[in-house]
Amino acid sequence: MKTLVERVKEAGLPDHIALIMDGNGRWARARGLPRVAGHRAGATAAERLVRFAGERLGLRYLTLFAFSTENWKRPKEEVDYLMDLLREFIDEKLAEFVESGVRLRVAGEIETLPESLRETVIRAIRETEGGENLDLTVALSYGARQELTRVCAEIAADVASGRLKAEEIGEGTIRSRLYTADVPDPDLIIRTSGELRLSNFLLWQAAYAELYFTDVLWPDFTPAELVRAIAAYQRRKRRFGGLEGDGAD
Ligand code: FPP
Repeated sequence: MKTLVERVKEAGLPDHIALIMDGNGRWARARGLPRVAGHRAGATAAERLVRFAGERLGLRYLTLFAFSTENWKRPKEEVDYLMDLLREFIDEKLAEFVESGVRLRVAGEIETLPESLRETVIRAIRETEGGENLDLTVALSYGARQELTRVCAEIAADVASGRLKAEEIGEGTIRSRLYTADVPDPDLIIRTSGELRLSNFLLWQAAYAELYFTDVLWPDFTPAELVRAIAAYQRRKRRFGGLEGDGAD
């Protein structure tokens, strides 16, 4: 009997899965724990999932929404805890990433991160550059509107200086300036904890992504939940705006 993992692999995995990891706070509250305990459990869930996606599943691209531009509005102690947790995560996983061919990328305003995290991120990006198995993007201080606003400003400056003509602007002009320029658009976006929205995540890149929502809170999101989401994705027909059967997908 084939396992579900083997079956989803045979049926054709999405190239790129992006995850909105939501529900850490509720997970902690349900246990009478402080919110940060939920984030700690969330980091463990992220770790488990990255290992599974890379080593068992053979997924090519994975993106994790770890900290949004809006998350800076949370209480300072929580923000500080999250920054430490992220630094710890990257620091502790770095050797394993190199060993298992994980290439780390970061999407977001890394200049706004505390120095210790920023340095860790820059070092990890450099040291994992040769990784060819799993491309792992961590969205850190990321907001899609901010990303697109920056891209518009860059294009405007290039037009103003004569480096670019307005009539030359196409989708590629925008795509090549996104944080995710070297990564294909996500095929599947998963959000945990029962919230049904994208919350400023990859708005350009999500144009044709399949969306999958689950009530499971992020710390409880196991590899089996990921496999379930992939199986649901594989039952859908992707048409990219074309008609069924026209070969658009
Ligand atoms: C949403 O839960 C989660 C976050 C704002 C942070 C995500 C961070 C992690 C999962 C941990 C670290 C990540 C990595 C990659 C190591 P919430 O606090 O909004 O939960 P709530 O909606 O239940 O309050």
